[in-house]
Amino acid sequence: MRLVRSINLSCFLALLSSFCLEFSHATDTIAPPSFIKDSDQTIISNGGEFKLGFFSPANSTYRYVGIWYAKVSESPVSPVIWVANRDKPLKTPSGILTISEDGNLVVLDGEKTILWSSNVTSSVSNMSARLLDTGNLVLQENTTGLITWESFQHPSNSWLPEMKLSTNATTGKNVQLTSWKSSSDPAFGTFSAGTYSFNLPEVFIWNGSSPYWRSGPWNGMIFIGVPTMKARYLNRFSLVDDKEGSFYFAFEFSNKSLPFHYVLNAEGNLLETYSINGKDWVVSWSSLTSECDVYGKCGAFGNCNPKKKVICSCLEGFEPKNIEEWNRGDWTSGCVRRTPLQCLKVSTGGKEDKKDGFLKVTMMKTPSLANWSSVFEDECRYRCLEDCSCMAYAYESGIGCMSWTRDLIDSQKFSSGGVDLYVRVAYSELGHKNEQGKVIVIVTVVIGIVFMAMCTLFLCRWMAKRRGGTCLGFHSEENLLDSKNQDKLQELPIFSLEELTSATNNFHLSNKLGQGGFGPVYKGKLLDGQEIAVKRLARTSGQGLEEFMNEVIVISKLQHRNLVRLLGGCVEGEEKLLVYEYMPNKSLDACLFDSIKQELLDWKKRFNIIEGIGRGLLYLHRDSRLRIIHRDLKASNILLDEELNPKISDFGMARIFGGNEDQANTKRVVGTYGYMAPEYAMAGRFSEKSDVFSFGVLLLEIVSGRKISHFYHNEQAASLLGFAWEMWNMDNLSTLADPKISKSGFEKEIFRCIHVGLLCVQDFAKDRPTISIVISMLKSEIVDLPHPRQPAFTANQITSENE
Ligand SMILES: *[C@@H]1O[C@H](CO)[C@@H](O)[C@H](O)[C@H]1NC(C)=O
Ligand SMILES: *[C@@H]1O[C@H](CO)[C@@H](O)[C@H](O)[C@H]1NC(C)=O
Ligand SMILES: *[C@@H]1O[C@H](CO)[C@@H](O)[C@H](O)[C@H]1NC(C)=O
Ligand SMILES: *[C@@H]1O[C@H](CO)[C@@H](O)[C@H](O)[C@H]1NC(C)=O
Ligand SMILES: *[C@@H]1O[C@H](CO)[C@@H](O)[C@H](O)[C@H]1NC(C)=O
Ligand SMILES: *[C@@H]1O[C@H](CO)[C@@H](O)[C@H](O)[C@H]1NC(C)=O
Ligand SMILES: *[C@@H]1O[C@H](CO)[C@@H](O)[C@H](O)[C@H]1NC(C)=O
Ligand SMILES: *[C@@H]1O[C@H](CO)[C@@H](O)[C@H](O)[C@H]1NC(C)=O
Repeated sequence: MRLVRSINLSCFLALLSSFCLEFSHATDTIAPPSFIKDSDQTIISNGGEFKLGFFSPANSTYRYVGIWYAKVSESPVSPVIWVANRDKPLKTPSGILTISEDGNLVVLDGEKTILWSSNVTSSVSNMSARLLDTGNLVLQENTTGLITWESFQHPSNSWLPEMKLSTNATTGKNVQLTSWKSSSDPAFGTFSAGTYSFNLPEVFIWNGSSPYWRSGPWNGMIFIGVPTMKARYLNRFSLVDDKEGSFYFAFEFSNKSLPFHYVLNAEGNLLETYSINGKDWVVSWSSLTSECDVYGKCGAFGNCNPKKKVICSCLEGFEPKNIEEWNRGDWTSGCVRRTPLQCLKVSTGGKEDKKDGFLKVTMMKTPSLANWSSVFEDECRYRCLEDCSCMAYAYESGIGCMSWTRDLIDSQKFSSGGVDLYVRVAYSELGHKNEQGKVIVIVTVVIGIVFMAMCTLFLCRWMAKRRGGTCLGFHSEENLLDSKNQDKLQELPIFSLEELTSATNNFHLSNKLGQGGFGPVYKGKLLDGQEIAVKRLARTSGQGLEEFMNEVIVISKLQHRNLVRLLGGCVEGEEKLLVYEYMPNKSLDACLFDSIKQELLDWKKRFNIIEGIGRGLLYLHRDSRLRIIHRDLKASNILLDEELNPKISDFGMARIFGGNEDQANTKRVVGTYGYMAPEYAMAGRFSEKSDVFSFGVLLLEIVSGRKISHFYHNEQAASLLGFAWEMWNMDNLSTLADPKISKSGFEKEIFRCIHVGLLCVQDFAKDRPTISIVISMLKSEIVDLPHPRQPAFTANQITSENE
């Protein structure tokens, strides 16, 4: 490529350093025989983002090889994001950066002594070093393209977009930042920052080998110890975890045209900084905002609250270990338990039967070194209570069950965000009143439950025997459920086929509410008057009975106000039925596309519906442990309650029907044409982003009052999207909006919605926002929306690669 040949000769001939400078600007590569010579030769990345060359830090005359932002100013004003010879500076501008004969990138002094080397052992010839626009310097073999070394794997103090901070169990190598000694000395300082996992991956800063700061675990969207991260969701962080000890964190910056990075400064503070003009750098976040952010500030069982005058206190039920020290403000010894734990596992029936309990502390940075399990909240609590060594537990929907079996260290009270922490204390610390009355009530309730359970069990067995069916949840022989979890046995109400047949008037046609993708749905009324919706599943489910049951129980646990509740199930012989809550206002399409009912849906209601669907979807994608992709989101699958609140139905059906959610590729494409993302419709590839596509279509339908399928029959496939795109380009969104809402004085909101809708239906999955970002956009938490690209299905295009 653009090789700088014989720079020396050019310089010599030109006798003009400016010419030399210009010449060297033309390349991003060092390849033998070319090299960089101090003082003013540099290479510059192809797009002009970064420069590599010799520099002196502020207040220093020593010379180092480094990489800095090239756009406006020169170092030392422009931050240096990487340094080669950190510990071995040159005292005079006599250095050379070149590629040695063994294929390593080396810094040489005037005597040709190696001060620094990339230290790759496998010697390869034909190597060249290239500075990329990401700021990464790569050492590459020319013909094969094999990268033997890259600066992103050997960072200095800066973490840039696309750089991965990683822990690798396979290679034993961790990629970490290390601080400079001071702002004028790039030598290795005492602080480092990187990833660490004790069951749950986190970002840590260490002072030497001691933890100095921690981010708290990652919940799929933010680090829960960094509650302010919510406001900066646009800088998409991601965790890639192979669950075998190797993982990395990386991030993208939303505005690629601005220089942006994190830097670990000499004081051990991790700063997020960016610059608009290349000269002035703004710090938009820092890891240490108060004393409480210093790891373990208040010692064991202490709780740090930066809003308090005295920041450290003991967790409730605990007292300072050394009261004198504590009162002096030396909190390092921490706190100890006021009353020893009883830890009674089994009820002994005596007066001593006073079990330990939990005190709830809200909005917490959870302590360090949590154990983790995937169980749900009540199981999490139960397990902790049953394990005498368990000191506390917490449950976060994006993480699961966390518990602690050792001292609770590094807890902090936030004023917003955070997680509820349940700390185990002795019975007498729980603050009981009215004990006698409580005991009587509890005993009565327990007797009642036992009695009812026995009755149900008896009845169920009896009915099952009579019809040769299965009693979900009470089936003792085949053990449908995990036998270890006896309390799971009462999770899902069972309905007998007889009960459901009678409730639906023998599945009478007049009771039929609709036909879903997996079978017809009937309205029913139980004997106690409760109205239900019964889905009679098509008989050809690929699943066995056991998997079906387990799946139904799992799905029934997904509870969210924007999801239709699954009330129970029934399996008898060939019949498989699911029982849902009944929604009086039927489905969204029945309302939205009906000229009379449409009047009910003013803009506020429509927006509420859009937002509700978004929240339901967010729960499925992110907040539920299962990470469910709906795959058939459409107007007829959105049901409306009395107040026209939307509830998503048919979620988890792909799971119930044996579709493997872990596999992002399916031969069996379920879904409805028009709502299906191109990569799903054409290649069977589904992901959260294919649901986002369907959501976008739905959003445009709701705003425009037009059915996607109407357009579909008009030849040009799915051209509601085409129409929307045309109106967008003509800046004529009021034509697209439903006339019933467009004069409501909410034009701005309506247009914003359309804009978001267009972002959701973009052709390429990677361009579409995630549902959490969609919600932030709808709520105007994200103000500047990107410009949408042309939606799918608007031109006669067949894209083969839609990832
Ligand atoms: C350089 O030295 C001056 C004067 O001592 C000081 O004000 C400035 O902060 C120093 N700059 C850096 C980056 O250390
Ligand atoms: C290169 O390797 C040698 C020997 O293993 C080591 O002493 C030296 O510090 C390494 N240099 C760098 C820059 O990693
Ligand atoms: C080095 O590159 C040249 C041309 O690019 C090629 O002919 C030669 O085989 C390469 N040498 C090695 C060792 O790969
Ligand atoms: C390696 O590639 C670079 C850039 O593509 C080129 O300038 C250089 O001449 C090549 N080196 C060799 C030894 O082929
Ligand atoms: C870092 O650790 C060193 C050695 O233990 C200690 O002297 C220093 O005060 C610590 N720095 C901070 C900022 O805590
Ligand atoms: C760990 O290193 C191995 C071997 O280099 C690599 O294949 C793997 O992708 C790495 N894992 C992570 C999570 O970086
Ligand atoms: C990125 O930042 C530049 C400079 O501030 C601004 O002009 C541009 O609009 C921003 N782009 C986005 C997509 O926010
Ligand atoms: C917590 O984890 C440790 C080690 O990882 C293990 O020994 C201990 O049994 C676990 N405790 C619980 C309650 O899961």
